[in-house]
Amino acid sequence: MSALHIMDHPLILHKLSIMRQKDTGSKDFRELLKEIAMLMAYEVTRDLPVEEVEVETPICKTKQKMLAGRKLGVVPILRAGLGMVDGVMSLIPAAKIGHIGLYRDPETLEPVEYYCKLPVDAEERELIIVDPMLATGGSSSAAIGFLKKRGCTHIRLMCLIAAPEGVKRVQEDHPDVDIYVAQMDDHLNEHGYIVPGLGDAGDRLFGTK
Ligand code: PRP
Ligand code: URA
Repeated sequence: MSALHIMDHPLILHKLSIMRQKDTGSKDFRELLKEIAMLMAYEVTRDLPVEEVEVETPICKTKQKMLAGRKLGVVPILRAGLGMVDGVMSLIPAAKIGHIGLYRDPETLEPVEYYCKLPVDAEERELIIVDPMLATGGSSSAAIGFLKKRGCTHIRLMCLIAAPEGVKRVQEDHPDVDIYVAQMDDHLNEHGYIVPGLGDAGDRLFGTK
């Protein structure tokens, strides 16, 4: 089974609590999501391999460490995942960005695909899927499935808030994909929304409701 990493860093928890408040407007919501995504990226990349390289300081030559192994890719699930891209890219600016367009049918709660554009060498990269909400897990599981169909084998999932139902679904469907969440919430309500959650992430991010 894949690992579930829950980040309980005080800065992340503080910022997330402000995002959850219903009176927090789109501007603050966007800024906070970007900041949290950057902090989360630090943890998500903690186990990346490094190699020794020679560096010449103004004082002497020395052996130091730099990133090694696969290049990185960031794959937001549209729309709301877009709000996490800039934060992640501020830490790993050389990463390439792919996009997967999915929306959740409000009746069936099943994901509907409308867009998929990935870097040409996606299968050679270490990919981080980003989406603030892991609710039923249908969208994230489908997104991972698309990447696997394209031959991608090194995939991590980074979400802001997860419901236990979504974590279970992704772990069952994709036991090889580690999940990183800022906070675990309680359950899903009858409309498939995370409780207590933060409401509809896409609408709050883009001000569409
Ligand atoms: C939200 C969210 C996830 C999905 C999570 O997107 O950003 O992609 O719901 O739900 P699930 O785990 O039950 O699949 P939504 O479908 O509302 O689309 P949007 O980002 O375009 O608003
Ligand atoms: N999508 C959201 O934006 N919020 C939820 O709580 C569940 C799915």
